[in-house]
Amino acid sequence: MAEYLPVDLSSLKTDTKVGCDLYLLVKSGADSRYILYCRGDAIFESNKREMLLGKNISRLFITKEDQQKYYEYLENNFQSIISDTKLSSDEKTKIVHGAATNIVKDLFNDPRSGSIERTKTFAYNMVDYVLKDTSAAQSLLKIAVHEYYTYTHCVNVAAVGTLFAKDLGLEDKDLKGLCSGILLHDVGKTKISTDILNKKGKLTKEEFEEIKKHPELGAEVLDETGTEFKEERIITLQHHENYDGSGYPYGLAKNEIHPSGKIARIIDVYDALTTKRSYADAIRPFAALLEMRNNMLNCFDNELFKEFIQFLGPYDPRKKPRKTDKWST
Ligand SMILES: [Fe+2]
Repeated sequence: MAEYLPVDLSSLKTDTKVGCDLYLLVKSGADSRYILYCRGDAIFESNKREMLLGKNISRLFITKEDQQKYYEYLENNFQSIISDTKLSSDEKTKIVHGAATNIVKDLFNDPRSGSIERTKTFAYNMVDYVLKDTSAAQSLLKIAVHEYYTYTHCVNVAAVGTLFAKDLGLEDKDLKGLCSGILLHDVGKTKISTDILNKKGKLTKEEFEEIKKHPELGAEVLDETGTEFKEERIITLQHHENYDGSGYPYGLAKNEIHPSGKIARIIDVYDALTTKRSYADAIRPFAALLEMRNNMLNCFDNELFKEFIQFLGPYDPRKKPRKTDKWST
């Protein structure tokens, strides 16, 4: 029997073709079954929507095989979903977050099939959304700091990094490159053997040397797409450079590291500590900050790190960004 997944009615735009069949869950007594409500190649008309709303039904179902088509639909209708005044910020954020997670999953499964460009486009849209609506930032951060899953974590960290950079006063165009860069920064790992990446226990010296190639491999992957990735390239290359010069691949120090590279370093460590990896359990955000301060301070620009601690404190989206040129690119 087919497996069905729920989709929010709020994510379906009327007068569009969704591209996948939509089902209604009908319960009678102890039995429940799915009946076809709107075919994927038919227009989802407003009367169909009104009828569901009239019966207090807020979700429909798709088959699991059609999940990809549904996400494609969301990506293509992104702008109209985030501009829809009938949707609350929390509803929009849930949709944006789900679609972003799906893109990142595709990115790591096959970074060549256009998913790199899709990630970039999506990151730019996501930043537009955050800039348009202050409650968007708040609801995104709420999800970002509280959820811990492999793929969603990557999206969460990109959200935290982008909102941090926004708080620092970076310009809108730089925020887009930064968000896209944070989503793409580890794409070079797709060229490294999974035996090394997933190894439990300590890596040998040779294995660590392999891992250290991923920033440069990532830049190569971006170059191969033929699309321009300026900010993304910087972040990919510099996210393991330490402020004291002890990082890799080039051992850059202090202001040899681009401001976006410095932000990415902080975000990457925060990411590593708060995600469950094959060799370590995830820790909570506050404990991660303590660990970073006590044992890794040499990795970061201290002033920037202080800003990050302040930022992760009580977050108030109405707070004006600290307008400074210092971190602008
Ligand atoms: Fe990395």
